[in-house]
Formats: sequence, structure tokens, C-alpha cells
Amino acid sequence: MSRLAGAVGTADARRVNSVQSLIMDFRLLHAAPTGLAEVAVDALVVLLCGEHASAVLPKPLARAVDDAVSGGDLQLKAGKSLYLHRPQGVKAPRVVFACASDGSARAIRAAATTAFGLLKGLGAKHAAVGLAGAAWRESSAEAVVAAAADAVYLYRHTKPSAPAAAAWTRLSLVADKAHVPAVQHAIARGRAIAMGVELARECANRPANHATPSFLAAQARQLARDHGLKVDVFDRKAVEKLGMGAFLAVAQGSDEPLRFIVARYEGAGKGKAPVVLVGKGITFDTGGISIKPAAEMDEMKFDMGGAASVLGTLRALAQLKAKVNVVGLIPATENMPSGRAVKPGDVVRSMSGQTIEILNTDAEGRLILCDALTYAERFEPAAVVDIATLTGACVIALGHHRSGLFTVDDDLAAQLHKAGDAALDPCWRMPLDDEYDEALKSNFADMGNVGGRAGGSITAAMFLKRFTAKYRWAHLDIAGTAWKSGAAKGATGRPVPLLVHFVLGFAG
Ligand code: BES
Ligand code: MN
Ligand code: ZN
Repeated sequence: MSRLAGAVGTADARRVNSVQSLIMDFRLLHAAPTGLAEVAVDALVVLLCGEHASAVLPKPLARAVDDAVSGGDLQLKAGKSLYLHRPQGVKAPRVVFACASDGSARAIRAAATTAFGLLKGLGAKHAAVGLAGAAWRESSAEAVVAAAADAVYLYRHTKPSAPAAAAWTRLSLVADKAHVPAVQHAIARGRAIAMGVELARECANRPANHATPSFLAAQARQLARDHGLKVDVFDRKAVEKLGMGAFLAVAQGSDEPLRFIVARYEGAGKGKAPVVLVGKGITFDTGGISIKPAAEMDEMKFDMGGAASVLGTLRALAQLKAKVNVVGLIPATENMPSGRAVKPGDVVRSMSGQTIEILNTDAEGRLILCDALTYAERFEPAAVVDIATLTGACVIALGHHRSGLFTVDDDLAAQLHKAGDAALDPCWRMPLDDEYDEALKSNFADMGNVGGRAGGSITAAMFLKRFTAKYRWAHLDIAGTAWKSGAAKGATGRPVPLLVHFVLGFAG
């Protein structure tokens, strides 16, 4: 594909520094559970799986667990943990026991998170994690890496005074010989995913006066330099040439220039149809003329979480040298009110030729996505997945645990669902019956951009569906999962883990 006139040069890249990696060094240590007392690290974390976990531990550790249990200081059930300082007969000066009930990857991630919480504020630089009562599986090793990466990440770009999240910079997983290859493989994948998650979190956490459409473009260019991606960035002129009237309508109210980012990772042969990932890149969503209330509007800086997850996923796949072809498409703009802003009732022509009556300027995500979805056709994709913080209604439906999954393709649904479960980044399928399409009827255009409050996340997906007739398509609504509110306010990096697992499984 050739570069269009009006493509943006490198000037944008100079405006920002690249996101710095905070991820630690992950290693593998060879030792059986019976050798855990001999592991010479600053802090030893033992994850206890099942009620008889202590039976496989060496004497000093087994005694400590049994003692604590009989003394009422430790209960062998999920969420419980115990810290010991310089226990006798153990090389490591700090030992943390944390219970991982059934030893599932989910339980192991929760236990590791608890254990790393206990290490917070301690001096240990090198921690090691061993399992007792269960063998390492790839999923559990990946879960520990994810928990560790989570424990050490702290947003500091505009708060450099923040103390480091953790003192430790090296994590080892202790595995016996038989499980070394599986754990090694899982560390590599977990680490790549963690770095992708970190990139996504860092981009999304940065405030909207830093994380502009040009910033996202600069991050894509950085990926091109560091990981050999091919990146094209289009400006308004180029987007006009493409006829993206819906995207342009959203961007017209903002003084911050729009960007359309095309990032290609080519890890498979030229002939192999790519997976196209389309990420919503609203760098700030005021609602436009249909303006949002003031409360929590700051959180609309996270409205580019879909775009951030596309960048993070590309980074992870490139780092893994995955034998896949993936195209990332990111329409990026602010959604602002102004004298030039699009107004309720305005009718625009999308790139597909279909006209849209913009009844609510706050339903802007679908407007920028529909043109990107049309653009995706040119790649003759094996599948297209769009990722968007699309609707408040999805948060009402599914809360903050599972992302919304929308597709009429049962196989694609099954694969995305499975990828989410495997990556501990789950989603849940929602319906897309034709009956829901009724709500989008307009007297003045081929469709309206909203369908009323009822089933709001579904009608949003039905809107997108009208632009996806030419390929296999799924939509992930991450409005409830891309960030956390309250005291822990911040981006989660979801659904990078789901997407990486999906792409690896889909192509492989
Ligand atoms: N970015 C919002 C969706 C959103 C809202 C995500 C709150 C997370 C928390 C999106 O652009 C939006 O404003 N959607 C509207 C659609 C409505 C006007 C049909 C919504 O959900 O209210
Ligand atoms: Mn909106
Ligand atoms: Zn939005």
C-alpha cells in the first residue's frame, strides 16, 4: 500500500519521549520444591496450592507452614498469606507464603498479587517464586509474570516525585527440570504481554494534553523504529481524500489535529491474510455539543484505551517474533464542542457511502470506527477485531470484570472467548440479533448514530456491523475494563493479553 499525499512526517515524533519500560528482569531458576530452602534470593515467595502443599516442601519451610496453620496464623485458603523474616534453615532472608487454593492460573495470579503486595516496601531486590502442591503450567507461569509486572508498574510521567512501586527489579520462577521448557516459554510470552500491557497503560494514563492524536502517532513510529513495524500516519487532508466523513465530523470541533494511524507487523509470509485490529482513539471525549456532565469527565482521557491496546498488542507480537501478519488501525481525535463542531441532526457521509444522522455527538466512537472498518477492507483480512471504550451501557451490563464481545461469527466468538479465559482477561458474548437494528432507523439518513437507552451497547455494535459485511468481524467493548476508577484510578492495559492470545491462536 502506498503512502498517501499528506502523510505526516517525523516532526510529530520529536514532540514526545518514548514510553520508558519499567518492566523487570524475569529469570528461571532450576530447583524442585524440595530445594526451595536453598534458593539464595532476597525474598522467596511460596505459593501454596491445596491443603497438603506443605508435604512437598523441605523441612524448614514445611515446619513453618504447619506451625503457622496449627497456631492459627495462616489459613490454607484463597487470599491468606504470611510473611516470615529470617526463618531458620532457609537461605532466603524473607519468605512469603500465599495460598493459591486450587492451583488454577487465576488463583495463582491472585496469590502472587497478594505476595507481591507484602513485599512492597521491603528491601528485597531479587524475588523468586516457587509452587508447592501443583506443577508449573504455562498458564500459571504467565500469571505470575503478569502479577509481577503489575506490582512494579507505577505511572510517573507527570508525577516524577512518586516513589517506586517496588524495590525489586528481578523475578525468578523456580521450576524443576521437567517443567523448565514450559516455564521458559511462558516467561517469554508473559514478559512480552506485560510489556504490551505496560505500553497500553502508560499511553492511556497520560493526560489528554500529553496523549494527543499526534502522541499516539509518535508511539506507533517508535514501535516502527524499535520493532520494525511499518507505520503510515495520515493527517486531515489525507483522511478527507479517503472520504472518511464520519471520522472527520467528530474531529472538526477540535483544534488538536486528527491522525489516522496504520501500523503493520509482518511476521508471516506476504501472502498470508492479516488480522486487522481497529482501536478507538478518542484522546478526550467531552461528548461534543451533546456535552457530558462534569463529574468524572477527566476519565474520558482513557477513551483511547482501544487504540492503546492495539499498540500494546503489536509491541507484544513483534517482541515474540510471532509468525503472523497484523494490521493496527487507529482513528485518533478529540471529541470537543466548538463553533465548528458537528451538531445533533447533522448528516454526514461515511467512507462506505452510507449516510449517518448524528443525533448525539457523544456517540462518537462508532463514527470514527465505522470509517476505519471500511478502510480495513483493503487488507482482505482473515478477521477484523475492533476494540473500543464504546458505551456506558456495556459497563451497566457486564461491570468491570468482563469486556463485551459482539460478533455474529460463532467460531470467532469461541476463539476470542477462549483467548480471554486463557489470558485471564475475560470477555462475555452479547447478542446481535437483526431485531436490534430497528433502533438505528432515521428519516434523514441511512441510519442514526444512536438507538436509545435500551440495549445501548448492542445498538452501538449493530451500528458498527453495518460497515463489516466484507469480512469476519468481532467487536470488543472495553468501557468497563480498560481502566479503574476511584483510589486505584488508572489504565489496566486490557485487553492486550486477550488480543495477544487470540492472534497467536488464530494464526497458529
Ligand atoms: N466513551 C464513551 C463511553 C463511556 C462512557 C465509556 C462512560 C466508559 C464510561 C462513549 O463515547 C459515549 O459517550 N457513549 C455514550 C453513547 C450514547 C450517547 C448513546 C454513552 O455510553 O453514554
Ligand atoms: Mn462519547
Ligand atoms: Zn467516547
